[in-house]
Amino acid sequence: MNYKNVIVTREAGFAIIQLNRPEVLNAINVQLMTELVDALEGLDKDDEVRCMILTGSEKAFAAGADIKEMADAPPMEMLKRDQFARWDKIRKIKKPIIAAVSGFALGGGCELAMTCDMIIASETARFGQPEINIGVMPGAGGTQRLTRAVGKAKAMEIVLTGKQFTADEAKEWGLVNKVVPVEYVLQEAKDLARQVADKPPVAVRLAKEAVLKSFDTTMEGGLEFERKNFYLLFASDDQKEGMNAFVEKRKPEWKGK
Ligand code: CAA
Repeated sequence: MNYKNVIVTREAGFAIIQLNRPEVLNAINVQLMTELVDALEGLDKDDEVRCMILTGSEKAFAAGADIKEMADAPPMEMLKRDQFARWDKIRKIKKPIIAAVSGFALGGGCELAMTCDMIIASETARFGQPEINIGVMPGAGGTQRLTRAVGKAKAMEIVLTGKQFTADEAKEWGLVNKVVPVEYVLQEAKDLARQVADKPPVAVRLAKEAVLKSFDTTMEGGLEFERKNFYLLFASDDQKEGMNAFVEKRKPEWKGK
């Protein structure tokens, strides 16, 4: 696919996808989402890529779903378009995704960042679910992911008032991993990506899967799932290599199998 709305670059061990609709603060239209999903799915299959970074511009990670694309859509067209179905595909990406967020991460932009596995935010980042101000509500996971991350009371306030919150607040509430000055946000995300890329890929994949499972299951079901993934890793060469390297006091060399 020839991308117009995302830019993909690669570095050793990881790839960066930059949202690129600056004229509308990276508002997420169907085309952008189609390209983003295509890029993520392609990178997910690429053995050279161990981790992905998703970022925007300094002014905006993304200012939400494209309001102009939706404004006059009849309900049946919205149903047919089913634009949020594409978002489920991001949830199915097996490799870790780090959001590097500067500026506005509103509505679908906030939801997109929350769909990622970790968030590095710049001090300038502004999060929020302002859909209530335009007569709707979050539709791409906001009511669920925000509530799980920050708890009912804060999620309710954010969703019902539409007010923005800062990077420091997001950090304090457990939504973001780290807040850094704007000029370091990508560098910080790359440092994190390198750390993940340096780990055994199969274990990373199964560990991500197990952490995400905790959102969908009971404690008992989650523990069972975790245990099976743990035992499954004993079928990998990397488990033998990792444990033997520890015993032999040397650095492991991962094969990714
Ligand atoms: N959709 C379409 N266009 C958007 C947009 C969006 N979500 N956000 C910004 N833009 C466009 C503006 O229309 C403007 O275009 P023009 O120059 O053609 O007028 C351009 O981007 C720059 O925006 P502003 O002039 O408004 O910039 P600002 O700095 O004054 O304000 C802002 C920035 C506070 C983010 C403001 O643009 C804003 O409130 N945007 C909308 C935020 C929003 O409501 N997001 C939720 C969308 S619905 C959703 O996301 C549903 C869901 O759950 C997935």
